Amino acid sequence: VTRKVWRIGVAGLGTVGAGLLSLLAERPDFAPAGFSAEVTGVSARSRTRPRPVDISGIPWFDDPVALAASKDNDLFVELIGGSDGPAKIAVETALRAGKPVVTGNKALIAEHGAELAALAEAHKAPLLFEAAVMGGTPAVKMLREAMVGDEVEGVAGILNGTCNYILTQMEATGRSFADVLAEAQQLGYAERYDPTMDIGGFDAAHKITILAALAFGCAPTYAAAEIEGIEAIDAIDIRLAKDLGYRIKLIASASRSDGGVSVRVHPTLCPLDHPLARANGAVNALFIEGRQIGRIFLQGPGAGAGPTAAAVAADIADVMTGAVRPVFQAPAKTLRPFAPVDASQQVGRAYVRLLVKDEPGVIAAVSETLAEAKVSIDSFLQKPVEDVSGVPIVLTTHAAPEAVIAEAVRRMAALPAVIEPPRMIRIARI
Ligand SMILES: NC(=O)c1ccc[n+]([C@@H]2O[C@H](COP(=O)([O-])OP(=O)(O)OC[C@H]3O[C@@H](n4cnc5c(N)ncnc54)[C@H](OP(=O)(O)O)[C@@H]3O)[C@@H](O)[C@H]2O)c1
Repeated sequence: VTRKVWRIGVAGLGTVGAGLLSLLAERPDFAPAGFSAEVTGVSARSRTRPRPVDISGIPWFDDPVALAASKDNDLFVELIGGSDGPAKIAVETALRAGKPVVTGNKALIAEHGAELAALAEAHKAPLLFEAAVMGGTPAVKMLREAMVGDEVEGVAGILNGTCNYILTQMEATGRSFADVLAEAQQLGYAERYDPTMDIGGFDAAHKITILAALAFGCAPTYAAAEIEGIEAIDAIDIRLAKDLGYRIKLIASASRSDGGVSVRVHPTLCPLDHPLARANGAVNALFIEGRQIGRIFLQGPGAGAGPTAAAVAADIADVMTGAVRPVFQAPAKTLRPFAPVDASQQVGRAYVRLLVKDEPGVIAAVSETLAEAKVSIDSFLQKPVEDVSGVPIVLTTHAAPEAVIAEAVRRMAALPAVIEPPRMIRIARI
């Protein structure tokens, strides 16, 4: 298509949609090579809600699907959110009409990416989603474009700024998870009504599912992700992990081996001098491991109106200039099916924290249980902690299959001197 002025339809005028409108109003000719953008239609739920940008001169659509189908725009931007519902129908409608789509919707791409990629390619309509992962920090283009000369072996990082903010605050103040979450909700760092997507690890799982597809050329398969959030992280664990030289982070990772692909999100102990341990506050950070290139580290804002809108604009520029690749690195038809590895056979080290009764013989019983399960101990720490009934015991294991460590933890839980279920947290392999 040869046009210099692109007419853009924007569905969703929340944080990111309004941010995009501000950017386009200020810099309509942001794109290289003399292209410019003009917003010719917008859609949101409420027509009367006050917006941080002036939309009075832009045609309004009550229905985002009608905006997606309208002949008055050449490019459709979806910033509504949600894996199904109006966002999905609108995106499908635009693609079927052969219209390029730019979205920031990680849930949609992680859960329906393969079918949408097939639809996009069948209708020769680009589908771009830089803003879906790490907000303004360009992780998607990095994997889809910059890394294609190499073979990516794995990616791992901090993909949810809310969780990272909460963990950072818990460490800084010694306060409980519930307290810090409530404060994060007040400050707008966490969703007020339902923070589950963030703290349960689901948002990070959407993002790592997308990165895995881009890195390994496989169909994005959200259902295969193993997900554990930060709800059960206790202030004690943050303190004790630090005494052992670690910081607890919610790490999302994807790796490839002969057995298949592993995609997981779980709290992880990172050595204090590790770059991921040093990424504190509401930031995102990512390691990419390339066979030839080695290790790349990216860190930056993972959310916010300005950064995320800039990522959306970068995708719009790609559409304008024709710099568009297959949706997931490889054409949809040739994407490999997702072959998950057996998680219980993954080998790693673990931190285990027990709360035991203050009586003789407990340590011997714990050690014996571990020996019976064939898990060897790397370090052992027994430390009285104020405000806690019972004595915390912390141990770290040598590397063992996760199923073996889980069995040892089950046996420890059954010991009469153990007061509450032991807490197991994996130790970073990187
Ligand atoms: N916030 C971030 O920093 C960030 C970063 C990266 C990616 N993203 C992604 O970007 C997308 C948008 O996020 P956001 O934070 O901007 O969300 P948001 O602030 O909640 O805004 C959502 C927008 O969608 C509109 N909307 C909801 N249902 C609709 C419907 N049925 N028809 C038309 N419009 C509808 C809402 O309308 P009203 O305004 O009238 O209620 C609102 O303007 C999501 O997919 C999100 O995951 C966000």
